[in-house]
Amino acid sequence: MDLMTDKIQDEQRQGEAYAPFAGDPNQYRRKFYIESYGCQMNFSDSEIVASILNESGFGATRNHEEADLVLINTCSIREKAEQTIRKRLSEFRKTKEQKPGMLVGVLGCMAERLKSKFLEEEKLVDIVVGPDAYRSLPGLVEEAETGQKAVNVLLSREETYADIAPVRLNTNGVTAFVSIMRGCNNMCTFCVVPFTRGRERSRDASSILAECRNLYERGFREVTLLGQNVDSYYYTKDDETPITFAVLLERVAAISPDLRVRFSTSHPKDITDDVLHTMAKHENICKYIHLPVQSGSSRILQLMNRTYTREWYQAKIDRIRQILPDCGISSDIIAGFCTETEEDHQDTLSLMRYSQYDFSYMFFYSERPGTLAQRRYRDDIPEDIKKRRLQEIVELQNTLSRISNEKELGRTYSVLIEGNSKKSEREWMGRNSQNKVIVFPKEDDNLQPGSYVNVTVTDCTKATLLGKIVSP
Ligand code: SAH
Ligand code: SF4
Ligand code: F3S
Repeated sequence: MDLMTDKIQDEQRQGEAYAPFAGDPNQYRRKFYIESYGCQMNFSDSEIVASILNESGFGATRNHEEADLVLINTCSIREKAEQTIRKRLSEFRKTKEQKPGMLVGVLGCMAERLKSKFLEEEKLVDIVVGPDAYRSLPGLVEEAETGQKAVNVLLSREETYADIAPVRLNTNGVTAFVSIMRGCNNMCTFCVVPFTRGRERSRDASSILAECRNLYERGFREVTLLGQNVDSYYYTKDDETPITFAVLLERVAAISPDLRVRFSTSHPKDITDDVLHTMAKHENICKYIHLPVQSGSSRILQLMNRTYTREWYQAKIDRIRQILPDCGISSDIIAGFCTETEEDHQDTLSLMRYSQYDFSYMFFYSERPGTLAQRRYRDDIPEDIKKRRLQEIVELQNTLSRISNEKELGRTYSVLIEGNSKKSEREWMGRNSQNKVIVFPKEDDNLQPGSYVNVTVTDCTKATLLGKIVSP
């Protein structure tokens, strides 16, 4: 699997120019350009923004230089994420100098964190909009067109954009993200998300089901249900029975056996046996859980306010292996949190070995203004130590991923084809249920993106499995 240091990961996730080609691009009077950074929720939000802008007469362009409105959907999770965005904004400034009428808007978490301070710090910015205020974007654009600076960073307890049909951006036509909730009520002390995204709220279950059904009817074959903490999904309406995450999963899975269902992210404290049994019951719910551990030391976990211990986490891993023996598991890990000792760090390494992760996202701790950790603790681990520990974590994960991939040799999986492989038009790329990427030569002309095919794994590279098609 692909193993990433903080740097590589940020590069991988950063800036994708989006070009929705919904309908005739000439039907729109003006053009917008949007670039997204950060987590899948942000990418999903950009699809809501595209829909809102389409409604108010803006069509998308892939080229920011020809846009009337340039938007950047930002992330605040680590300091480096914010630096990347500032660098990009300075590039937009150059374009704006040539084209003074162009408006620049900052959306997302960094907009929410910095609010109108953004306007002082980055002179080229005309519009600042937080994650719960996207419906006001057309009004803010109008305001900005009169030469005023326009800001809306109000957070909401209700907004879920349930009624907005996202315009799928940069789509492969096979896989799509569906947002099922917003915000986060956990107060992990290192994390800025509760401040930038506000209180947790669950989206109306019937609107989620309608969106998934519609995707299926349009040929999509995989939906990923998104939330910061999907296991705490809970939707109640009048006197109908409340819908938990397990119930929601079951209902999405029932749309069609040909529609794969994935979800992210699970919090170790909240994932229930109910969810695991629902996964076991339905072939089309993918056997893959992203279960971020953050640290292997119970003392550090407590300082992080993760509300579980090392032993609790190990018991969750055991439970997953017991109920879902073939489940892929991945993690997020932070190196060098406040007061972390060598012994704590060794605990992280040993918990990684215990969990046998197929894949991890690994970071060194980056102090974020306003978080509980920033207010309560000292960021006391020197950067060289943080980086050395991160390096050890990355190296161990490399080994674990290699072991995990080597185990796959000779196994046969049902693979959903997503498109051509990056390297060659003569090869397909798809994933198995466990979320591993498999690349294999095209053989049967009847196959296309969205088809399922059985593939036997014949080889692997560090990042990918290689295989060949076998008859069912
Ligand atoms: N809701 C998800 C995580 C969202 S943020 C969860 O609870 O797991 C994605 C990841 O970024 C986190 O899991 C964490 O590993 C990392 N992260 C968050 N804040 C960070 C910080 N201040 N420094 C370094 N990594 C951080
Ligand atoms: Fe951040 Fe914790 Fe919420 Fe995840 S669960 S978004 S890490 S506060
Ligand atoms: Fe970044 Fe905001 Fe997501 S801080 S990780 S874009 S919720």
